[in-house]
Amino acid sequence: MSADQSLAERPTQEALTLTPPGLRALLRQATQDVHERMHRHDGLAAVMRGTIGQSAYRALLQRLYGFHAPFEIACGLTSYRSNNLAADLEALGVNTATLATLPLCPALPRLDTPRRRLGARYVMEGSTLGGRLMARRLDTLFSQGDAGRRFFQDSDASTWTTLLRDLDTASNDPAHHHEVTSGATETFAAFELWLAGWRGPAS
Ligand code: HEM
Repeated sequence: MSADQSLAERPTQEALTLTPPGLRALLRQATQDVHERMHRHDGLAAVMRGTIGQSAYRALLQRLYGFHAPFEIACGLTSYRSNNLAADLEALGVNTATLATLPLCPALPRLDTPRRRLGARYVMEGSTLGGRLMARRLDTLFSQGDAGRRFFQDSDASTWTTLLRDLDTASNDPAHHHEVTSGATETFAAFELWLAGWRGPAS
């Protein structure tokens, strides 16, 4: 093989630079700022610091329930996470009758296409990645066991693996990437807005 041929077969620096980033990298980039803001959410940050009190924790879980329950239905997911929230709330004294009266998020993101739903799943399933970390910080409220912290504790690795596979096998068409990314950014936006009201009289 001549030197010219071997060079021709090698990807040029320009080609490497022009290679489009994968969908996950695009999603991570598009949602980086809002993800960082969520780290500073006063309820979530208090969980992370291990300083949240029981009534604030209950209010936070109620607000999370108000998003996850309608979101799962709209996105065609099982009620796995909202069931965990219901079990945690029950451990904190919120019975089924009270649960049924909790306010539900009225402004969900648009989830009317499979690509938008893929972006939305990236956000909500990605949110479990920090969950185990947060569950460990709840030792001050729950001396032992999972009761009261199932929602944070129970991150299902296989769900995330499935999501990553779905991102990997998604179309490379930039317009399709844009649609998935819109699903993700709009989901983060709806979630951020809803969670901002966690201390409100309705929560
Ligand atoms: C205090 C709150 C939070 C903490 C401490 C936290 C922490 C983390 C951690 C440790 C990871 C794993 C990073 C990695 O393994 O590469 C992660 C990933 C992720 N988190 Fe959060 N998170 C928080 C809140 C949220 C919220 C509220 C959402 C969405 C509603 C969210 C969405 C995501 C997503 C989508 C990923 C995946 C990013 C990727 O593509 O690698 N996080 N988070």
